[in-house]
Amino acid sequence: MAQYDVLVIGAGAAGMYCAALAGQRGRRVLLIDHATRLGEKIRISGGGRCNFTNLHASPAQYLSDNPHYCRSALARHTPQDFLKRVRHHGIRWFEKHKGQLFCEDSSQRIIDLLQAECDDGRVDWRMPCTVTAVTPEAGGWAIATDQGTFEAPSLVVATGGMAIPKIGATDWGLRLAKQQGLPLVSPRPALVPLTFAREDWAPFAELAGVALEVMLRCNEGEFREDLLLTHRGLSGPAILQISSYWQHGDELVVDLLPEQDLAALLLEAKQGSRQQLLTVLSQLLPRRLTELWLQRHDLLGRALAEVSDKTLRQLAHGLQHWVLRPDGSEGFRKAEVMRGGVDTRALDSRTMMARERPGLYFIGEVVDVTGWLGGYNFQWAWSSAFAAAQAV
Ligand code: FDA
Repeated sequence: MAQYDVLVIGAGAAGMYCAALAGQRGRRVLLIDHATRLGEKIRISGGGRCNFTNLHASPAQYLSDNPHYCRSALARHTPQDFLKRVRHHGIRWFEKHKGQLFCEDSSQRIIDLLQAECDDGRVDWRMPCTVTAVTPEAGGWAIATDQGTFEAPSLVVATGGMAIPKIGATDWGLRLAKQQGLPLVSPRPALVPLTFAREDWAPFAELAGVALEVMLRCNEGEFREDLLLTHRGLSGPAILQISSYWQHGDELVVDLLPEQDLAALLLEAKQGSRQQLLTVLSQLLPRRLTELWLQRHDLLGRALAEVSDKTLRQLAHGLQHWVLRPDGSEGFRKAEVMRGGVDTRALDSRTMMARERPGLYFIGEVVDVTGWLGGYNFQWAWSSAFAAAQAV
């Protein structure tokens, strides 16, 4: 049986970073992953350029049943701290918008950074390697694998969330937490396109490909971002963001013309106008969407001057208050992250250790902390990994 100070399961963003930092503190670390290719989720992230952090990361951009949990870790290892390492490795990056930092060339640079940091910490690797059993022992943890048995006082679970199972995502960390008596917050897909019943969506399916900036609201979530209509429903950053706030049965409210007083605009345009309603509206909205909307309200082909003020007000209200009820999402197959996970009320927010299971740590996406789209999820991986690495 091989002895280590720290065993880390899951060599993704959080696992590699934690293993590296713990190793650099002089701990003997073993890092295990069942995948054949390293860092697949990092590789495909940010459209291949990895949106590795967000300069504005703060607890306000994270969802959790225990919203204050992430505060300490985020404050102790900030986006600037991670950026220092990015600079140290000579990785070129750029800010896309809203504080989102991407690699200039490719996500591979972040995988290389993590691997180099692990080398610096003399981390041992087993990959691909399957863990078959985890057993608590006096003073630590033992894990049985297809490559032997390993023991250490600290076991860090960094097996991520359930999004994109085809590249190795599993619910292994959740099952282990449950086995060890830790509570879970039900997992569900987040940052995911939303879908509608076929008959409800049929009229809009022909608009697939239309995109526009909207204000989208659902429960406490509110985002001004781009919306994309698809064959099966809605996608684009606005929907991915709001999907984290949406649960089955909830309504979405879409303002297709954010921060405009459309009723006032139409009533003013009506004065002395000989224009078609379609002409006026399609200066503000995509033409295909406008045509369909007017057709569905029996207003296609009407001159603006012919339409009553009341109807114009109703039309404006409908476009700025479009109520939609999705019937599902594209699921973990297409989601970027998982909402829910190990209930943070059972974990110590300074160290990420399970309060009732000394030496057992949970970091990264397996924990019930879910960031907005825009680099926040990687920042949580780095910050939670740092917190655990100081404690193991
Ligand atoms: P991560 O998923 O990175 O790693 C988990 C590791 O555990 C994997 O290597 C897996 O193989 C391993 N594992 C799982 N089960 C195991 C088992 N039973 N035994 C051994 N190993 C096991 N975020 C962001 O901030 N910016 C972005 O640009 C993007 N873009 C993006 C695009 C797409 C398409 C997706 C799917 C996701 C993103 N994300 C993102 C989210 C981000 O990728 C995610 O939040 C982090 O990778 C989470 O890091 P973890 O280390 O927790 O899990």
